[in-house]
Amino acid sequence: MEQNKEQNKTVSMPRIGDAAPEFKASTTQGDIHFPADYKGEWVILFSHPADFTPVCTSEFMTFASMEDKFAKVNTKLVGLSVDGLYSHIAWLRTIKEKIEYRGMKDIEVNFPLIDDVGMNVAEKYGMIQPNEDSTKAVRAVFFIDPKGIIRSIIYYPLSLGRNFDELYRVIVALQTADAFEVATPADWQIGDDVIVGPAGSCGTAKERMEDEDMDCKDWFFCTKKLDKQKVLNAIMKNI
Ligand code: BEZ
Repeated sequence: MEQNKEQNKTVSMPRIGDAAPEFKASTTQGDIHFPADYKGEWVILFSHPADFTPVCTSEFMTFASMEDKFAKVNTKLVGLSVDGLYSHIAWLRTIKEKIEYRGMKDIEVNFPLIDDVGMNVAEKYGMIQPNEDSTKAVRAVFFIDPKGIIRSIIYYPLSLGRNFDELYRVIVALQTADAFEVATPADWQIGDDVIVGPAGSCGTAKERMEDEDMDCKDWFFCTKKLDKQKVLNAIMKNI
């Protein structure tokens, strides 16, 4: 009964549009002050349930092998689990020295992994979801913009490994929406047509229907071409 009460307690969770909750923490790359240390950059803050577990290992290898790709779109990665620093260090060393998976080997994780044994950060970010597991973080992903605002959140249960191409697509879509004041339709990929805002936000419905650059399916549904190179020029960082 007591346990049920505990599991159903009300917790606060940050939402899209909120400022990312602040914290200081020890990580495998030294201490961080979040999100202040990432001002001017996009950051993906993500949690995993536990070190030395198979799904998490496959995820870390995949994310680490994509770190440069994220860096090119001004995006840093920050991981977290409710394990301690020595466990993190031993697990990452094991990954580098022993694990070969889907053509990935000798994988070095160079992004910070937060020590959150006290669950302080995990609680702040709603990463502990007791009806899934009360002692481990779920697989949460927070996309935070250069001003420290949470722009998207995705949660996965313990058993489901994330799709990292989708996480990259989310970052590129958010940056494209900001740079060109557009929205991105279902399954959008860079180079695909984008959605132009609703009538009123950019011309009347009649003006929009007559605009040759736009393809209007109806007054509320207009798309336009957005060249891949134009998007890349806007979002790629010269590094
Ligand atoms: C895993 O990463 O394999 C895992 C971790 C916690 C619970 C279930 C699976």
